[in-house]
Amino acid sequence: MDFISIYSQQIARHINGMLSVEEIAEMMEEPKLTQHGDLAFPCFQLAKHMKQSPNEIAKWLAEKIKSPSIAKVEAIGPYMNCFMNKKRASKQILRTIYHQKQAYGTHQFGEGKTITIDFSSPNIAKPFSMGHLRSTVIGNAIALIAEKCGYQTVRINHLGDWGTQFGKLIVAYERWGDEKTVKANPIQALFALYVLFHEKAEKHPILNEEARACFKKLEDGDGEATQLWTWFRKESLKEFTKIYELLGVTFDAYTGEAFYNDKMQDVISMLQERDLLVRSDGADVVNLEEADLPPCLIRKSDGATLYATRDITAALYRQVHYQFDKAIYVVGQEQAIHFQQVFLVLQKLGFDWAGNMVHVPFGFMLKDGKKMSTRKGKVVLLEEVLAEAVKLAEQNIEEKNPALGNKADVAKKVGIGAVIFHDLKHDRQNSVAFNLEEMLQFEGATGPYVQYTHARACAILRKAPVSQDMVEGLDDEFSWPVIKKLHHFPEIVMASLHSYEPSKIARFLLELSQEFNRYYGKVKILHDDPHLHDRLVLVACSATVLKEGLRLLGIHAPEEM
Ligand code: ARG
Repeated sequence: MDFISIYSQQIARHINGMLSVEEIAEMMEEPKLTQHGDLAFPCFQLAKHMKQSPNEIAKWLAEKIKSPSIAKVEAIGPYMNCFMNKKRASKQILRTIYHQKQAYGTHQFGEGKTITIDFSSPNIAKPFSMGHLRSTVIGNAIALIAEKCGYQTVRINHLGDWGTQFGKLIVAYERWGDEKTVKANPIQALFALYVLFHEKAEKHPILNEEARACFKKLEDGDGEATQLWTWFRKESLKEFTKIYELLGVTFDAYTGEAFYNDKMQDVISMLQERDLLVRSDGADVVNLEEADLPPCLIRKSDGATLYATRDITAALYRQVHYQFDKAIYVVGQEQAIHFQQVFLVLQKLGFDWAGNMVHVPFGFMLKDGKKMSTRKGKVVLLEEVLAEAVKLAEQNIEEKNPALGNKADVAKKVGIGAVIFHDLKHDRQNSVAFNLEEMLQFEGATGPYVQYTHARACAILRKAPVSQDMVEGLDDEFSWPVIKKLHHFPEIVMASLHSYEPSKIARFLLELSQEFNRYYGKVKILHDDPHLHDRLVLVACSATVLKEGLRLLGIHAPEEM
């Protein structure tokens, strides 16, 4: 049982139902200073009920509490500070972790339920942007955390493989492109064609007409257009797959926007039947004035469908096929309005499950204070960025541990891990400043720091493995902060899922690493005394939780680095 519950129940016993256990737990605070104990209960509320001063009540109640789990309760002014019985608590905590191993922190509340996670979703024939990287690592972490909480997940890559831009691309390719260049460097070549199209179209607007007509052909299944589109898609996917392999991210479905091409008519009919579709400037839209939202564009005047049409259709498809309990979309905050529109249209269609759809937005990746952009040729090629991170990691390892075996493999885990961790340690809504050197430091708030701490724990255990299962518990002041952190892991996992914030786990790992390193600095872990075995168990449990926490973020934990 967690400390808050233990203490709250003890308090509840003596106050005649004036406050419920839940109310007491709600008021509980964690003292800033460790010498003030593990929990502090403020007595102001009770004082009102009992018409006495909070200080008096704290004094009176502190005397009453007796539990083998609690070492002492101290009245400090209006607060009642509780010191847990370290030996007893640590015995139980270490035992649990030592036996559960990587299953520690698992929850059951998601069992039998499905979450679809729409993430990454880059656009065909365009570079994989920093925004897509953010979506990929945040989405992947949320999927892993959801699985840890018992959910079945469906990871969906809603590729941007449909829309008028493909008309533009085909027109550009047919006019100015050639097969060899595209084959050699697909995304760069296709993107260059796309940029060229826009330049030319500025002078010759007729090109836009041509592109629209071309996309219409594609929508109608024209052979030649479809062939080119299929090729562009295949080449782009090859490039994206390289990035996913580097990041260690997988998908259950690559059902992009095009997948819904033949399914949209049903949605349009449904909207018509319910009288939701209205004409506006020749286009068909759903009015959403009641929610202060701009109208949702469903069909253009030439009959072409739109991004929103495909998202509405995709949602229906996913509900039918996966029967999701929750559908989440990990997409930049600039698309917030789009998702509000899509969810509201589904609600107006009478689907209650639309209430279970969530847009999980995130901020920009910044470089030198500006948004990192893939537009107008200012392309940051992500593959190069990741390769650079691995190279820098390799240099760091070469400096710190030249004798290490399988350096290349470790450098990959550290380099990629650094990029992922750097992204995930920030609240996702905040923007992230991109700085490779900084994120690769072995000290400071970085992924390599956490990995290094894990490797340090592994090194101790290589010297002195845990030899038996018995755990007695530790009651020294240096192990206690580490044990308390370990104890919090399950609740951090849950909280990070509920808020869709992998950053909670990232920051927890940084704190745990700090506590562990402090412990390492202060205590002679390998000293041969009666507590040696328990200290090794503590090291093993720390390694387990660091590794499992990193895994939930999509990061490897090498045993040596
Ligand atoms: N391809 C889109 C973009 O790059 C993101 C798609 C997000 N998912 C969705 N279901 N709309 O902006």
